[in-house]
Amino acid sequence: MKDFIAGLPKCELHLHIEGTLEPKLKFELARRNGLELPYSSVAEMRAAYTFDSLPSFLTIYYEGMRVLLTEPDFYDLAMAYLRKAAEQNVRYAEIFFDPQAHTSRGVPFDVVIRGLRRALMDAEAQLGVRAQLIMCFLRDFQAEYAMATLLESLPYKEWIAGVGLDSDEKGNPPVKFAAVYERARQEGYLLTMHCDVDQDDAIEHIRQAVEDIGVNRIDHGVNLLEDQRLVEVVLARGMGLTCCPVSNGYVTASMKAEGIRKLMDLGVRVTINSDDPAYFAAYVRENLEALHEALNLTREELAQLERNAFEITWLPRHVKDAYL
Ligand code: HPA
Ligand code: ZN
Repeated sequence: MKDFIAGLPKCELHLHIEGTLEPKLKFELARRNGLELPYSSVAEMRAAYTFDSLPSFLTIYYEGMRVLLTEPDFYDLAMAYLRKAAEQNVRYAEIFFDPQAHTSRGVPFDVVIRGLRRALMDAEAQLGVRAQLIMCFLRDFQAEYAMATLLESLPYKEWIAGVGLDSDEKGNPPVKFAAVYERARQEGYLLTMHCDVDQDDAIEHIRQAVEDIGVNRIDHGVNLLEDQRLVEVVLARGMGLTCCPVSNGYVTASMKAEGIRKLMDLGVRVTINSDDPAYFAAYVRENLEALHEALNLTREELAQLERNAFEITWLPRHVKDAYL
């Protein structure tokens, strides 16, 4: 089955580009930018990746990205991921980026997006991997900062497929960003947001995302199972969930494989993704392997997970159809 999974044409829809920053590249960028890291080796850096919750992960994630300063840094980051994606037969990816994690450190928005965009263009031409960008707002910052970021993105609208919401969910419900999402929709952006696994008020956050905001899909969202009525709404709208089993195992005590199984059986468009593969040591292939180990999936079920992903991409219908 390993060979089957390796060869399966894949689509990745929940991937934070800053979460693909591998220790080796982190050292290289630190050297390039004249920064000191508090580790003397890759092994030491990895040993410091000791997270067991969303906040403890986020601390390490934000600390790691301080080495990203220039346009070539963002280019190299995205190219490294896209090379890995090509190796794993990922044919198409929708890639999150966190502009506020950089503008809040003094790195200009245009430096970030130009570097990422150039990598996407080169990867399509050189590797045959197609990708689009999704701009995420940091939910633990004020809504006004998200709105300012949205406005700052407008000159680059052609380069951004939609918006998302990530970072620390505690006390930061979807409705905090209702006005930002309304404006994003008016600007033509498609909408997604994280409803992380087992957060406080998880099912209420999913309800807000679906009913108050009207998102096109949900990132994580496994707690949807807690409300049969909402399951029906999600099914009726054909919405998808971007699940990340290995990530779940780090930020909660479980991969949530059984929950993912139930959602698949209900007919929800479940997809399998890597989230922050450099930190969780698993790209999309390893996520599929881990899920298969837990659930003993059939080839048909594995193929269906990838069909779900291509189906819920934010590509035009005729482009989507070419992958299906
Ligand atoms: N959840 C919230 N914020 C994040 C994540 C995540 O899975 N990954 C990177 N930022
Ligand atoms: Zn995520």
